[in-house]
Amino acid sequence: MPLSRHVACFAGPVLLVVTAHLSTEAFLGTHPRDMQAKSVGGSHGFTRRRSRRLAMFREQAPRDEHEARNNALRSRGEESSRGDARVPVITSHFATPLYRRRLRHDAAEVEDLNHDLIAESEMFAEIDKEGHQWSNKNYHGGYTSYGSLRCLHRMSSTFHQLESWLNYHVRAFATYLEFEAPRDLTMTECWVNVMAKGASHGLHLHQSSSISGTYYVQTPPGTPGLRFEDPRFDRMMAAPKRRADAGRRNTAVVECPARAGDVVLFESWLRHSVAVNSADAERISISFNYHWC
Ligand SMILES: [Fe+2]
Repeated sequence: MPLSRHVACFAGPVLLVVTAHLSTEAFLGTHPRDMQAKSVGGSHGFTRRRSRRLAMFREQAPRDEHEARNNALRSRGEESSRGDARVPVITSHFATPLYRRRLRHDAAEVEDLNHDLIAESEMFAEIDKEGHQWSNKNYHGGYTSYGSLRCLHRMSSTFHQLESWLNYHVRAFATYLEFEAPRDLTMTECWVNVMAKGASHGLHLHQSSSISGTYYVQTPPGTPGLRFEDPRFDRMMAAPKRRADAGRRNTAVVECPARAGDVVLFESWLRHSVAVNSADAERISISFNYHWC
C-alpha cells in the first residue's frame, strides 16, 4: 500500500502522433469497468462494447520483439524509425495533483491533537468578535478566523505542533510537483473554520501562496469535503458535455472526502468550494497556506 496518495485530476489529453500503437494495457488502464470487462467478458451491452474494443487491441498486440520494442518507445513519446501507423498515441499532460494522507501514523497522536484543536477552535469561536463580524459578511452560517486571526500557528503551541507535522506533507507534495527548493516552503497563514449545519463555502482560490490545504479536525457523518473544479473551465468554449459515467480524468468537478485526521493539499491557484453542511454537528477544519518567505 502506498504511503501517500497523489491523485492526478483534470489531466489534459493531447493527441501527439497518429502513427503508432497504443498498448493493450495502456489502453485498458486501471478503471474498474475495464477490469470488469477483462475478467467477466460480455453479457451486457456495455461490457460487450468493452470486449470488442479489447478484442481489437488483442488483434493488434505485438507480433515480434521488434514491434514490442517500438511500442515501448512510443509509450515514452518517442518514435521508432520503423513506426507502424495504425493507432494514435494519446498522452495526458498538465495534470492537477491532489494530495491526501493521514497527518500521523500514530492514531493516538492524531486523537490527542484533535482534542486540543477542538477545544481551542471552540474558544476562538467564542471570543473572536472581529472574526464573527467578518464571517457574517463572508461565511454565512459559519465561523472562520480568516478575517481576524490568520496566523494561529504563531499564537498557539497546539497550532504550532500542527504546523510542524504539516511541514513534512507539504515538502513531500512540493517534491512530487518538482518545485525548486521544496524544503524552504513555509507556513504563512493558518486559520480555523467551524461550519454549523447549513453553512457552506463558496468557490475561491488562495492568492499569493503556492501550496494550500486543509486539515480535518471534526467531521461528523454527512459532512462535505473539498470540491475542486477543472482549472481549464474558463477556456472551454463549446466544450461538449461528458457522459454521466465519464472516468476521473474527464470529470470537471471532484470532491475529496472529509475525514478527521486527514491532510488535503493542492496548488493554491486551484479553485475550490465546500458544499452545504447537512450534518447536525459542527464540522471543524484548519486551513493554511505555504509560500517562500
Ligand atoms: Fe480555501
